[in-house]
Amino acid sequence: MTLSTAKPLKRSRIFGLSLPRTPMVMFFEGFLKHPVMVGSIIPSSKKLIRHMLGPVDWASCKVFVEYGPGVGTFTRQILAALPHDGCYIAIDTNPDFIDYLAATFADPRFRPVLGSAADVEKIVADAGFDHADYVLSGLPFSTLPKGLGDKIGAATARVLRSGGQFLVYQFSPKVRDFIAPHFARIDHGFEPWNVPPAQLYWAHKA
Ligand SMILES: C[S@@+](CC[C@H](N)C(=O)[O-])C[C@H]1O[C@@H](n2cnc3c(N)ncnc32)[C@H](O)[C@@H]1O
Repeated sequence: MTLSTAKPLKRSRIFGLSLPRTPMVMFFEGFLKHPVMVGSIIPSSKKLIRHMLGPVDWASCKVFVEYGPGVGTFTRQILAALPHDGCYIAIDTNPDFIDYLAATFADPRFRPVLGSAADVEKIVADAGFDHADYVLSGLPFSTLPKGLGDKIGAATARVLRSGGQFLVYQFSPKVRDFIAPHFARIDHGFEPWNVPPAQLYWAHKA
């Protein structure tokens, strides 16, 4: 008999209940601790993930950055599509989420980073790259502290290579205000099969 060496999952205590730390429980716990930063009580749907990532040209993608990965709702799909020599940097401000991602996804291409999307240029440079090919954002732009959304929009436009894309999903179309000043072409979509339904944007760097 071979004994598993995997660490047992810790349990979460929510409203007095002891629950196994599944991604859904972790996410809800994250929302209860930091409602403004997490901005949603359940992770994105599979349909939203497919819709958002649909236009990505994976063959030309070497550096993929994600803001606000949470418990890694997009992570499996991104790792499955990313070229074997690609790099996937996932930036989140919540240390519980970053620890969970590091423990859950053992892939040498994957780099979970505790930090803010506003510092994306330094984070990408520290990883050894000049630019990113794609940046995906699940940030709750409308509830972020004042000024932060504009800062993140500008930093993202600078960190992307020419021809790179900023992929953004949000429940409110107001998010377009944060990206429009920095991107001349923005394609729009809508995903009804998500709670709540989401606005999708693909912003192209000229
Ligand atoms: C709505 S959740 C998105 C979760 C996941 N991407 C999904 O689709 O289910 C927003 C995430 O953004 C993170 N976040 C909030 N502000 C941030 C910032 N300035 N930089 C990086 N991540 C941030 C939160 O900790 C949270 O994990």
